Amino acid sequence: MAKNILFCLLFVLSLTLNVVYCTFYIEYRKFHLIDKTPVLSNGFVNYLFRGNEPTISTPNGEEFSYEQLVDCLRNSSESQGITLPDDFYIIDIKLIYGVSSEIPVIELERNFFAANSSLGEFGTNVTLGDLWDPNFIPKSDRIEWAKNLTEWQKDNLPQRMEDYYNILNTPLDKPVVLFFHCLCGCDRTGEIAASYVMRYFGWDFITALDWDEKIAGRPIMPNNKWGAQWYCLYLKYSLNMDIDCDDI
Ligand SMILES: *[C@@H]1O[C@H](CO)[C@@H](O)[C@H](O)[C@H]1NC(C)=O
Ligand SMILES: *[C@@H]1O[C@H](CO)[C@@H](O)[C@H](O)[C@H]1NC(C)=O
Ligand SMILES: *[C@@H]1O[C@H](CO)[C@@H](O)[C@H](O)[C@H]1NC(C)=O
Ligand SMILES: *[C@@H]1O[C@H](CO)[C@@H](O)[C@H](O)[C@H]1NC(C)=O
Repeated sequence: MAKNILFCLLFVLSLTLNVVYCTFYIEYRKFHLIDKTPVLSNGFVNYLFRGNEPTISTPNGEEFSYEQLVDCLRNSSESQGITLPDDFYIIDIKLIYGVSSEIPVIELERNFFAANSSLGEFGTNVTLGDLWDPNFIPKSDRIEWAKNLTEWQKDNLPQRMEDYYNILNTPLDKPVVLFFHCLCGCDRTGEIAASYVMRYFGWDFITALDWDEKIAGRPIMPNNKWGAQWYCLYLKYSLNMDIDCDDI
């Protein structure tokens, strides 16, 4: 119990630090092409990317940079041997906590896509992680909770993954780049990216977590790690996937 309360306090503290004191600018090394579709009915391929806050520092303050964003998307996929098409439509999803101090940065992206709607669209998804380490819950209860994850998990990763998969696989009149990110591109982004590779590639939890840690350059925050681990248990016990969730 004490351990969980401690993590809860740590979570609130780091949330405050993240949102109030740290400014994150776009970082090329946080960008990765995660998946691409086969050729869809419109003849195009759609792409899924993770990254971080697509803003730059200017003399006028923090600004959204479409050019830098496209540069990071192109170069990172190129480094993975995939060339993006000349023209594409960005579906930009910012993973947020849903607190008011996030609004100014949200507005930067929202305003850009509102003014340049042929280049893409913008939306937000509240992403918090979970406050309970699944291994802290006795195994039989844990399995029951994993099975009804859709009923209680705030981030509802089962539904979220279906939604992202559907967006990714929907043909539009241009190739689509589905791009999700938070500020750092580490914790909330790590939770969502790990969930995707477990669900659609069958990666084990630890493999997904190691990949997150490599990109973040540090372990991801416990709440986001537990969120992904609960989702892994859902895949194992609800969808009967053969997956190692590092559960004891
Ligand atoms: C992307 O590649 C171009 C061409 O090599 C280079 O000029 C640019 O700096 C790179 N951008 C990033 C963000 O790495
Ligand atoms: C986005 O829209 C603004 C306002 O219409 C325009 O000034 C700007 O050049 C557009 N940006 C891009 C990258 O097309
Ligand atoms: C997540 O973002 C997508 C894209 O903006 C949106 O369609 C969806 O309704 C959002 N889901 C939630 C639960 O906020
Ligand atoms: C989920 O399952 C647990 C264990 O069976 C149960 O205690 C809990 O009430 C269920 N929660 C919801 C929201 O269905």
